This record gives sequence, C-alpha cells and structure tokens, in this order.
Amino acid sequence: ALDRARRAIDEHARMVADFPAPGIDFKDLTPVLADPVGLSSVVTALTHGCRGIDLVAGIDARGFLLGGAVARELEVGVLAVRKGGKLPPPVHSTSYTLEYGTAVLEIPASGIDISGMRVLLVDDVLATGGTAVAAAQLLGRAGAEVIGVAVIMELDGLGGRATIAEGLGADLPVHA
Ligand code: PRP
Ligand code: MG
Repeated sequence: ALDRARRAIDEHARMVADFPAPGIDFKDLTPVLADPVGLSSVVTALTHGCRGIDLVAGIDARGFLLGGAVARELEVGVLAVRKGGKLPPPVHSTSYTLEYGTAVLEIPASGIDISGMRVLLVDDVLATGGTAVAAAQLLGRAGAEVIGVAVIMELDGLGGRATIAEGLGADLPVHA
C-alpha cells in the first residue's frame, strides 16, 4: 500500500518554487488527490494498521478532503479544525505560527461532545509542526486526546517531528 501511494505521489505531486512567498517550496498535492489511484492509495497507506480511533480531525483547508476520506475508511466521524472566524460561537480557539505568517485555528465548543475521544489528526503536509501542535492542543482543550498524526508528506529540515515530540510528547506516533 505504501509503495502504491509513493508511486502515485511521485507521479502526480507538483512542486512550485517561491509560493506563496519567496524561499518557500510549495508542495501541491491537489493532482494526487484528484487521481483515483492517488486518493485511494494514500488513504489506504495512511490508515494501514490504524486502530482504536474514535474521530478523525482534518485541518483547514488541505486536510479536509483527506480527513473525510480517512474517516470513512476507519468508519468514524470527521471534525473540521477551522481557520479563525469561520465557525459560529462558541468556539475553542488558538493562535499559532506557520511556515509563513501566523494563523488561528478553531473548533466548536458546543453542539458536539468530543471529550474522551481518541482522535487521529490528519493533514496533507507536515512542515514546522506548528499547525499540528496547535490543532492537537485545541482538541485537548475540548477534552479529546490526539493519539496519532497522519500526513501525506513530511518536509525535511523544518523540525516538524521534533516540534510535535516537544509539544505533544515523544510517544505520539507521526505517520508520514
Ligand atoms: C499548510 C499545510 C499544513 C501546514 C503545515 O497549510 O496544509 O496544514 O501548512 O505547516 P506547519 O507544519 O509549518 O504548521 P496552510 O496553513 O498553508 O493552509 P491551507 O491548508 O489552508 O492551504
Ligand atoms: Mg493546511
């Protein structure tokens, strides 16, 4: 499953230099997810051996498509972790530092009860790890526990894994 996903990514991922800012290499996985073999092989690889999950959380925006597909595969529900200002109140909210700029993440503080849930956090790319740590802390504030982080691609040299180990514990599995 992993080899099939790797081949699909090699074939379809598009690397774009200096976007959205000079010095940033943008990894566009849009063509991977738009490809039938790409989507199914990536979802299979990400969920392989994954057990004991109560909920998938997909991170705004590129984690949404993947989060929904992973949740369906694991036969659990999906929660969108939104960028700031998108959700009606009340919300849990946190601000965090990104590879480029700062941002706010929010989840609903009413209408769903995720306390005690074991959550798989899903996103397309792990870069500095700031987004994943902020999202996991946010879910923690709602009483849930992130028990794994799954991304398609991890960028080398940005310390994402170390940031997750520091912020969320060295035992937390990070699957890339
Ligand atoms: C990108 C990417 C990850 C995050 C990784 O999202 O989709 O979510 O950056 O960066 P980090 O590990 O350094 O935090 P971005 O915030 O650009 O927004 P988008 O998903 O809405 O395009
Ligand atoms: Mg994102």
